[in-house]
Amino acid sequence: MYKVGVIGGSGFETLISEGVRKRDLDRYGSIDYTLGYVKGIETVFIPRHGFKHEYPPHKIPFKAMINLLNKLDIDRVIGISAVGSLREDLPPGSIAIPIQLIDYTIRRDTFYEDHPIHVDVSRPYCRALIKILLDKAEELGIKVEYGLTYVATEGPRFETPSEIRMFKVLGGDLVGMTNIPEAILAREAGMHYALITLVTNYAAGMQDLIDMDEVYRISKMRERDIFRLVEESIPVISSSELDDECIRFRGRFREVSR
Ligand code: HPA
Repeated sequence: MYKVGVIGGSGFETLISEGVRKRDLDRYGSIDYTLGYVKGIETVFIPRHGFKHEYPPHKIPFKAMINLLNKLDIDRVIGISAVGSLREDLPPGSIAIPIQLIDYTIRRDTFYEDHPIHVDVSRPYCRALIKILLDKAEELGIKVEYGLTYVATEGPRFETPSEIRMFKVLGGDLVGMTNIPEAILAREAGMHYALITLVTNYAAGMQDLIDMDEVYRISKMRERDIFRLVEESIPVISSSELDDECIRFRGRFREVSR
């Protein structure tokens, strides 16, 4: 059985029963996390924005987060994120799993700062993990949209309507502020990584204004279903043999992060 990592918004820590809060400090920064069990599987939960929601998107210690999972010997990771929707047919409250990613940030985090290594992100998310999540969602009767493209913006501001029109032309379906560099660093570290998104609003220009209270209200409304989906998927994620595509760089990463 493999351990599983979950990176999510604050509020998901109760996913883990009998968990203990811990803090890790290394050269990439300090991370608070919970270590415990989900359905008998050893699971680590990292609240991306900190337990007190202290990190805005551009201050999240992404490298410390991914390196913590590496040090705990975890290479199966599920991310959970709130996003805006660029599609009329994907209203607030929808749960969606992206398969492609566009980087519209100015973040340049990499573990291969001083190494001539270029990881392949032809398939930025783990296909095997996505299949497990989709099968489980179907079994639980939770509707999940998939095959979508996530556009990562720098934040912390929301986008302008003109930017959103541009992202639509580029093929974007979802917009969020955190999956770059999270997904890329996970690939650099040789991890299986997939993202579950919750649409909390239509993107700028598609609804009147974007209201943070509305974002939180929608998150609370669908929290239970996302919770169930993750919780029920963890034993399958833990016990499945996944193909090697995502983890090709694991050995190399361990050399550079030592
Ligand atoms: N844009 C960027 N990030 C987001 C949004 C959005 O509209 N909604 C939730 N996270």
